[in-house]
Amino acid sequence: MAGTADEQTRRRTIDALRDLQYALEPPEETMQRLLVSLDLKIFDMLSESEIPLSLDELAQRSGAGRILLGKVGLRCRIVGTGSDTFAGRFLRHQSSLGIIKETDKDEFTASTQRGIFPFQRSRPACTSGNEPIRGATKQRLTRPRETSYFNRFMYAQRSGMKNCFSFLPIDQECKDWPADQPVFVDVGGGTGQQCTTIKEKCPNLPGRVILQDLPAVIAEAKVPDDIETMAYDFFTPQPIKGAKYYYLRAIMHDHADDKCLEILKRVADAMSPKSILLLDEIVVPNKNVEWYVTQTDLAMMVQFSSTERTEDQWRELLGKAGLEVQKITTYTYTFRLSVIAAMKKE
Ligand SMILES: C[S@@+](CC[C@H](N)C(=O)[O-])C[C@H]1O[C@@H](n2cnc3c(N)ncnc32)[C@H](O)[C@@H]1O
Repeated sequence: MAGTADEQTRRRTIDALRDLQYALEPPEETMQRLLVSLDLKIFDMLSESEIPLSLDELAQRSGAGRILLGKVGLRCRIVGTGSDTFAGRFLRHQSSLGIIKETDKDEFTASTQRGIFPFQRSRPACTSGNEPIRGATKQRLTRPRETSYFNRFMYAQRSGMKNCFSFLPIDQECKDWPADQPVFVDVGGGTGQQCTTIKEKCPNLPGRVILQDLPAVIAEAKVPDDIETMAYDFFTPQPIKGAKYYYLRAIMHDHADDKCLEILKRVADAMSPKSILLLDEIVVPNKNVEWYVTQTDLAMMVQFSSTERTEDQWRELLGKAGLEVQKITTYTYTFRLSVIAAMKKE
């Protein structure tokens, strides 16, 4: 077909296949593909409205304030309202990608991806400074609304995916664990998504389950009473010593190696010979990498000057922190989500 069809037929077929792909993908994959945020609430307006909305209506209701273009980190101020503004161009572009639908000239509605819109409001992090993620986190934490959006995004991001507590041998490894000792510490655990999940998956887990994050995030935590919450900065000494598991999900990929080492050494200092560090992260294959993985890697590079890591890089990083990899289990195909279990070197 590539050689015989005319350009229009080929283009239409490609677009139809794309629409089929979008219809099949789950929300967490859509979220990765979009990589765009819009603070005009246009996504919200479209997804809440039963009927298509005109560009003028959208521009008027939104006040046509600021808009973030689809390129990561690129910000642009919109001036004026009406059909000849950037908003129209932006919406047409979104529509051309199938993110929203153009129902008529200058008239739009939500696409089948409407479910993810409420989570698409956190802005790209700033890209300046020596350690962009820290600057971005600090900035975000001064803005309660953004903190809340980010926390919701983190909560939603993996909620539809396979969870590592479905297959890790937690019950078996903890069957003799003393009830008064810390069993699971989720470092940078957000509002408690994984603490709650481990309790659901392992209802008889003995020992204390502790959620740690920065104060503004802990203030938003919604966890059952038997989960302890603790405001803690992971660049400072870890106050919980000798826990069975120290669990860090999506923390390392936010940081360059030197900062990861600081965090890992804080954990390693608190670990006993029985402790296990669990890093729940992407492990990049050495070849034939899926675009979801490369895209996430580039997003981390552009936004935070950080990186996704290959198995060799993980082993080297952990080795420098005095830790030894015991096992790596990759549990999703698309994103190569993996659990790296490590213990202190003897
Ligand atoms: C990418 S999110 C991951 C959240 C959670 N682990 C998950 O997978 O859903 C990074 C988390 O690290 C937290 N964080 C950032 N800097 C921190 C610090 N210095 N100390 C403790 N937590 C921090 C953020 O507030 C955020 O909840």
